[in-house]
Amino acid sequence: MLTLTFALLVLIVTGYILKSIVKPKKFPPGPGWFPFLGSSNVVQNMSKMYGSQWKGLSMLAKEYSTQVLGLKLGRDLVIVVYGEKNIRQVFTEAEFEGRPDNFFLRLRCLGKRAGITFTDGPVWREHRQFTVKHLRNVGFGKTLMEKEIQNEMCNVLRYIEKNNDKPIHPKNLLATAVMNVLWKYVAGETIKEDRLKTMIDLFHARSKAFSMAGSWLMQMPWCRFFFPDLSGYSLINKLNQEISAIIEEAINKHKCNGVDGEDFIYSFLQEMYKNKHTYTEEQLKTICLDLLIAGSQTTSNVLEFALLTALRNQSIQEKIFDEITNVIGDQTPCWTDNSRLIYTSAFLLEVQRYYTIVPIAGPRRVLEDTVVDGYMIPKETTVLISLGDLHFDPELWENPKEFKPERFIDEMGILKNVNHLLPFGLGRRRCPGDSLAKSFIFIMFVGILQKYKIVCSNGVLPSDDPIIGLISGPKPFTIDFVLRS
Ligand code: HEM
Repeated sequence: MLTLTFALLVLIVTGYILKSIVKPKKFPPGPGWFPFLGSSNVVQNMSKMYGSQWKGLSMLAKEYSTQVLGLKLGRDLVIVVYGEKNIRQVFTEAEFEGRPDNFFLRLRCLGKRAGITFTDGPVWREHRQFTVKHLRNVGFGKTLMEKEIQNEMCNVLRYIEKNNDKPIHPKNLLATAVMNVLWKYVAGETIKEDRLKTMIDLFHARSKAFSMAGSWLMQMPWCRFFFPDLSGYSLINKLNQEISAIIEEAINKHKCNGVDGEDFIYSFLQEMYKNKHTYTEEQLKTICLDLLIAGSQTTSNVLEFALLTALRNQSIQEKIFDEITNVIGDQTPCWTDNSRLIYTSAFLLEVQRYYTIVPIAGPRRVLEDTVVDGYMIPKETTVLISLGDLHFDPELWENPKEFKPERFIDEMGILKNVNHLLPFGLGRRRCPGDSLAKSFIFIMFVGILQKYKIVCSNGVLPSDDPIIGLISGPKPFTIDFVLRS
């Protein structure tokens, strides 16, 4: 009897192992799969070797000469898509509109499948529509929000004026300015300085904790029971609770009528009071978190890269300064100036290509069995979209490794509409904060360069090698601001 049970057990385990290493029919090419791990170890080694997951995956795709890389990470089927045609297909076709659902992503959303970024189906559609409509109503990219951005620009200039006797770290200064604008939109008020600092530190610590805990908690979520500290779970939980408490406090203040107005929390609560069943406090809290996470570091990192590039290329900086002086003089910059400041706008587009802030967009979840580039992609497969490679594709960009703003200006001297530049994605899951991000980056950058020449006094140019995690950012650097006469 014992022998029979043992034989049966061996048979079941062998069957499971064999099943776990056999690829589905016509699945895209990629490394072989090991039992339990799939190709995780290969991806991890490549990421380590090439400095980031994006570069590691890109090298693997080249090794297998494919535009669709097929992987298995733990138990999940994953594909990474390359090339304009495949990327457009994933961005625009409805079968790719889903988001994966797992313990790790729920942890990102404070423990539940809620919010917009990591939901799909009717809840996502309804709340995305509500959020986008609200973003338009308060005037993202229009006058109301523009005033807020211009106010923040004045705060940044005031800070520089007070502190420019020594080099300034732009990171915190810009992060503070973006967070202020986002918080104003979400909660309708300016955050107190110490509170703001706590929030920025919290978001920073949280994104670091997620990067470090990523591979452990994503593939072996059970390890949190055995190693809550070592796996990073305890820290993430603590940071989640602290961020949750800050957002809850703002919601409670609104509920006690402490904040009037048209901000997001106020509008959402009005819907909640109508007893619409998906409008819950949990959902409100997670959407606020979505907007703060998705909007803060992305926007400030682009601006940081723009300043770093101007610092490293003085001739480009002078060209931008001349254009600003000739076209708008000392007027306060506004978003509509972007069609007149052609070279400056082209420079900012090139920054978004050259330092693609979200090198791998997604993750998406395939809702139906489908086909990409002739390969069969089973339902539930996770899809990653390599925007970083799209922006360096030699078939689309001449000398892609060269930083060249002129590629965005046509022979008539007009800004070109280049439709393979996709830093904000495309389709129904396209970034809903793009107008805010673009206005913020443009107004802040023009406002700073209009008033100050940016240099490095010690003569050692800071490196422009990015630190590439889930999003890309520059290594810490300082700027000396010299007032223009
Ligand atoms: C330069 C700054 C930014 C960049 C490069 C960026 C990039 C992106 C990209 C590529 C996506 C699409 C992901 C996908 O297709 O799966 C996305 C989604 C998203 N972004 Fe942004 N973003 C930026 C700023 C912002 C801002 C300022 C906000 C908020 C006000 C925001 C909120 C969101 C949200 C909520 C989503 C999820 C949309 C959904 O799943 O339906 N982003 N972003």
